[in-house]
Amino acid sequence: MDRRGYAEVFDSFQAKEDPWGNPSSRRSMFKALLSWVATRRYKRILEVGCSGGYFTDMLVKADLGRVWALDVSTVAVERARSRYPSHTFVVGDVRDIKELFDFSFDLILCMDVLYYLTTADLDELFEAFMDRLTPKGRLLAVLHLDDSTSLTGTNFTTINEHCKSLFGDPRFKKVCMWPDTGWGKAVYFVEMQEIGDDEV
Ligand SMILES: C[S@@+](CC[C@H](N)C(=O)[O-])C[C@H]1O[C@@H](n2cnc3c(N)ncnc32)[C@H](O)[C@@H]1O
Repeated sequence: MDRRGYAEVFDSFQAKEDPWGNPSSRRSMFKALLSWVATRRYKRILEVGCSGGYFTDMLVKADLGRVWALDVSTVAVERARSRYPSHTFVVGDVRDIKELFDFSFDLILCMDVLYYLTTADLDELFEAFMDRLTPKGRLLAVLHLDDSTSLTGTNFTTINEHCKSLFGDPRFKKVCMWPDTGWGKAVYFVEMQEIGDDEV
């Protein structure tokens, strides 16, 4: 699937006001994830796949640092901007992260987005994340636990296994993996350096 077709698929999902069941069905997961990342402050935070901006708003209100929220769907970003006009939303494909941002982030969040990519995409993206994470950066990824195949033809279990090996990379000095959180999701939370919770 080419980039344009890929973005159009996600635009079409946005025909529904809340395509991913936000916020009520996901609120407890969002709250838990927020509490995990809120152990520190950050200079710059990137949320990948922000959709309508619900989690973005929680992040901004938690005042953990400056937030950029990215989504490949123009429709999603327009809706997010109209809901939360003071937050920073960017239209773009995370695979272009190095072209989209010429600076690094202390925290990158990917909630329910990586499994749309192929394993080859993920290998490249992972290196781009390494490039766009500060030396003390953190990366949190949430993946759906399911044995189905995503719309882009990727099998979720394959992606999950692939991510597990990528997040086990020795360049990460602290690796936390929750293979089954009870929400039907696996969560990976890794850090470039093991540092105190109150350090930025
Ligand atoms: C399943 S939704 C998850 C939304 C939100 N993160 C949540 O957890 O409720 C996936 C979102 O990621 C976006 N997305 C998918 N592939 C992307 C990509 N390559 N780059 C940026 N955003 C992407 C979709 O448009 C969609 O809004």
